[in-house]
Amino acid sequence: MADQTITSVSREHRKFRPSAEFKAQANLGSDAAYKRLYAESVNSPEKFWDRQAKEHLVWRKPYKKVLDWNPPHAKWFLGGKLNVSENCLDRHLGTHRENKAALIFEGEPGDVRTITYKQLHFHVCRLAHIFENMGVGAGDRVAIYLPMIPEAVIAMLACARVGAIHTVIFGGFSAEAIKDRINDCKAKLVITADGGWRRGKVIELKANVDKAVENTPTVQTVIVVKRCGNTVNMREGRDVWWKEAWDGAPNSHKAKAFDSEHPLFILYTSGSTGKPKGVLHTSAGYLLGAKLSSHYVFDLKETDRYFCSADIGWITGHSYVVYGLLSNGSTVFIYEGAPNQPEPDRFWQMIDRHGLTILYTAPTAIRAFMRWGDNYVLRHRLDSLRLLGSVGEPINPEAWMWYHTMIGKKRCPIVDTWWQTETGSIMISPLPGVTATTPGSGTRPFFGVVAKVVDDKCNEVPRNTGGKLVIMQPWPSMLRTLWGDDERYQRQYFSEFPGKPGVYFTGDGARQDKDGYFWIVGRIDDVLNVSGHRIGTAEIESALVSHPAVAEAAAVGRPDELKGQSLCVFVTLKQGQVASDELKEQLRAHVGKEIGSLAKPDTIRFAAGLPKTRSGKIMRRILKEIAAGGEVKGDTTTLEDFSVVAALQAED
Ligand code: WTA
Repeated sequence: MADQTITSVSREHRKFRPSAEFKAQANLGSDAAYKRLYAESVNSPEKFWDRQAKEHLVWRKPYKKVLDWNPPHAKWFLGGKLNVSENCLDRHLGTHRENKAALIFEGEPGDVRTITYKQLHFHVCRLAHIFENMGVGAGDRVAIYLPMIPEAVIAMLACARVGAIHTVIFGGFSAEAIKDRINDCKAKLVITADGGWRRGKVIELKANVDKAVENTPTVQTVIVVKRCGNTVNMREGRDVWWKEAWDGAPNSHKAKAFDSEHPLFILYTSGSTGKPKGVLHTSAGYLLGAKLSSHYVFDLKETDRYFCSADIGWITGHSYVVYGLLSNGSTVFIYEGAPNQPEPDRFWQMIDRHGLTILYTAPTAIRAFMRWGDNYVLRHRLDSLRLLGSVGEPINPEAWMWYHTMIGKKRCPIVDTWWQTETGSIMISPLPGVTATTPGSGTRPFFGVVAKVVDDKCNEVPRNTGGKLVIMQPWPSMLRTLWGDDERYQRQYFSEFPGKPGVYFTGDGARQDKDGYFWIVGRIDDVLNVSGHRIGTAEIESALVSHPAVAEAAAVGRPDELKGQSLCVFVTLKQGQVASDELKEQLRAHVGKEIGSLAKPDTIRFAAGLPKTRSGKIMRRILKEIAAGGEVKGDTTTLEDFSVVAALQAED
């Protein structure tokens, strides 16, 4: 069939409107206001963004031009100068926020630190001096490999202060992954810790760095934070303790101003496929996107205590722990460890103990909480919460409803936020005081985002038909290139449709429903061909997860001589459920009932665990190889736990 659109099978129609009470206090509480602002943001983007940039950012030198768009390259706020760390810190000094908590940190062992804006500013200023004394400045690359502790935030902001480009490497990555990333960007300085706490054990971060830097000729210095007190090797002339460098450094620092387009950070992302790409974000546009979206999507109030469970090593940690929140003067709660340490109720306990008001987490975590059982939640009040968020994957309606009733007590709006490392900030999401939500849908685009669902020729498909999700116009927080590989940048994101060099291809499949709401149906590369219908993975998986025995599911296609492709699903069961042939039959019937018999899986395999990336996304590429009976090839360095794959292969 020439028609490459995607058949949509979801039948979710429930709607949840914001309460009158929530609306009344919201930063944006009227649909008419959303529509007016949205229309302006896409019809007169330069006017809209000009006003936002003036209102939301502190400039040292005003810009001359809002946008220079030479597809696929965009420059925003040309000629302007600012300092990103000043926008996150100095702007709050001398105001009522000066002595407000910027960070509340809880370590896995239970240690708590509160750091005010003024204190955070001291720390960042000191580190900025240390950097300058080491000769680390504008344009130099700094690798940060730390646990989720305040020093991670301090290090990022100190880089921004001196104009160095940080690349944060998730603390779960191996020496090999650190080495590759450092060599790709040629980092001069590495900041790490002796170790970090995870499930009661010390993760030996410094030992991993030692191994990595054996083969990274550009690294001159390694700064080491003492976190766990485990023994480490300190190489004379290369390694310094953070504390020792610290003592005596002045705690004020006059920040230099940098161009709007000065690079702020590189973040390596592989998604679920291929060699890591160094996504490059720059200063003003990125910060504006992160700040404005935080304000509206999280409806931030001066009194909020916001908790995002993402690690600082992911884009979510960059935009919605550090830059978007601190630039808004919010109080951010960060937690070092595992959600089930010492027991699976750690998050709920911390929410009650610290009076946290907003929780932003991922569907994979929500499904884990569901699997661990409601009793862990019911022990706690959770009455401080007022807003919930989800990010990272399509959230299946089952998990959405659980989040809504069990965590939000039917009181808290849920913002299901669609975006990517590349987009820098949230692109599709409800606004909590405005949008009626539907479980599983990210609803409508954020300001300035022209999202469309199109066919292979870039023509918009009819409502309720799936296709490729694209963004038609540039936006301030978009990636600028891939570090050292502009050709790949063009090929990967702007070459999907010949003759349309300005259309950004997200790689995701989606559909819009009759109300214009967006539904992500999965990655385009994973779309299944079932009896001549192309169906996104999310819908089949979501049908499976709506069965009471199922905790998690992944659907993949398997080459089939007769049908071309047959449907194979991997299923993890909830605690206490027993795998059996009867259950397989029940699940097949259940999918038939939920979607229709065309989507009944040909093969169902029970699995103790599914292969996931370290940020919790299911790696369907690996499951496809296992389903086809082949060897698992290709890059597995981003895999969380290889034993899951070994177990799946062994039972094959
Ligand atoms: C997926 C994470 C559905 C999507 C911020 C996207 C989502 C990829 C959602 C980016 C969501 C993220 N609903 N799918 N709310 N959020 N995704 O770069 O496939 O780690 O393209 O950025 O995650 O993942 P990344």
